[in-house]
Amino acid sequence: MSRPQHFGWFLARGFGPQGWGHPSLDWDYDWTRPEIYQEAARTLEQAGFDLVIIEDAPSLGSPSTIDLRVRHAFGGPKHDPLLLAPYLFQATRHLGVVPTVNPAAYLPYTAARQFATLQHLSGHRLGLNVVTDTGSARHFSADAQLGHDEAYDRAEEWLDGIRSLWRSWEDGALVRDRPSDVFADGARLRAVHHRGSHYSFDGPLNALPFTDGEPAIVSPGGSGRGLGFAGANSDVQLALAPLDEASVRAYRAKIHDAATAAGRSAEDIRILFAIQPVIVSSAEEADRIVAASARPDDAALVQIARKQSSDLETDLTALDLDRPLDLAVFGEHVSQGSIRRLIGDRGDDAPLRAHLTALARSGRLSDRSGFVGTAVEFADLVEELGEWGNDGVLLWGDFHPVTLHRTLDELVPELRRRGILRRKYVDGGLQANLRAF
Ligand SMILES: Cc1cc2nc3c(=O)[nH]c(=O)nc-3n(C[C@H](O)[C@H](O)[C@H](O)COP(=O)(O)O)c2cc1C
Repeated sequence: MSRPQHFGWFLARGFGPQGWGHPSLDWDYDWTRPEIYQEAARTLEQAGFDLVIIEDAPSLGSPSTIDLRVRHAFGGPKHDPLLLAPYLFQATRHLGVVPTVNPAAYLPYTAARQFATLQHLSGHRLGLNVVTDTGSARHFSADAQLGHDEAYDRAEEWLDGIRSLWRSWEDGALVRDRPSDVFADGARLRAVHHRGSHYSFDGPLNALPFTDGEPAIVSPGGSGRGLGFAGANSDVQLALAPLDEASVRAYRAKIHDAATAAGRSAEDIRILFAIQPVIVSSAEEADRIVAASARPDDAALVQIARKQSSDLETDLTALDLDRPLDLAVFGEHVSQGSIRRLIGDRGDDAPLRAHLTALARSGRLSDRSGFVGTAVEFADLVEELGEWGNDGVLLWGDFHPVTLHRTLDELVPELRRRGILRRKYVDGGLQANLRAF
């Protein structure tokens, strides 16, 4: 019997105009209304997914490069995923919903109370994807922007503060005894007197304590500091790493070591590896797609350049495709990691065309050179990850019905046949389902 895996869907590019620029996704749906998201959430619940994570960035980015973000809608606009969550909860009964939140945007008391409210409204199905993006800091305060590690320190203080507020109702504080007409015992509410480096506030929290666990904390950071944060704080870590056995085991060991160092158990964290598969009906079709991607035309390269220009906040579309990419075009604000991911091992004198072509190329699941393949081939990969001790995968895509059905229609029955994908949810909300296996 195969090891069951947890499945998540990552709504990449968030609560925004997802279909823009994709002729085949242009169904004239209104991305600002809840219906398209509710339909997707119901599909994912029918498929047995644990959770859906909604990407977010509160900012349109650096003032000088905003046009690059909005012109083709790769980087915005985006609406607030926290406010979309109730609509998805209403459309489903078991699915966990995980909006992305940045500690910069919410004071701990407000955050603790809003998240507690959603946790109760949803039957304990809320998760929070905690990110530490510092680029949006200027929208929340005129103070100097925090550095990378300091933003993680603040996130930890924020989360500790929120948790102390959630725990400010001690066991027995909620009495609800009709005969004595006592609703709650104020003597059992902790005052919570927080004076820290970034926040200063008092409790207790004006919200009910939880019956089925706190909202699940999800984290995506992959730096040493990011993995440390996950080990100490997270219920779910989103992993972006190569999918060979050594890399998967090494990544998991780092998180587990960080958990143990923080006094937790490896069992407390579910690690989901992020994958964007292209599932097709036959090996021949997969071969055809991979072969066609090997020689992208200029129009395809321009589309990739637009997306990269938005993500890297640097205009690559104005550059000559056949001249070496001068790294001086990237400003200070662009992370070295992102530049390295674009350049790969092609060297500084490779032309821009070579870098974009590498991004355009896809590979086959069957030989593990990429992620195009049949449902059977993808199920083989997920099963193999499970054999290496893995907990689950995070599929990456938009919420268009065509994307969801192309990905899931043949895959779900195949995974269920193998016993890898749940057939039923347990009661108790997101935490209970994450811990069910
Ligand atoms: C699967 C996945 C999802 C992510 N989602 C978001 C997101 O919604 N918003 C965001 O600002 N960053 C997101 N990130 C980026 C991370 O939060 C983080 O900024 C990045 O991994 C760099 O952090 P690090 O230096 O610790 O690796 C995501 C990363 C991954 C791998």
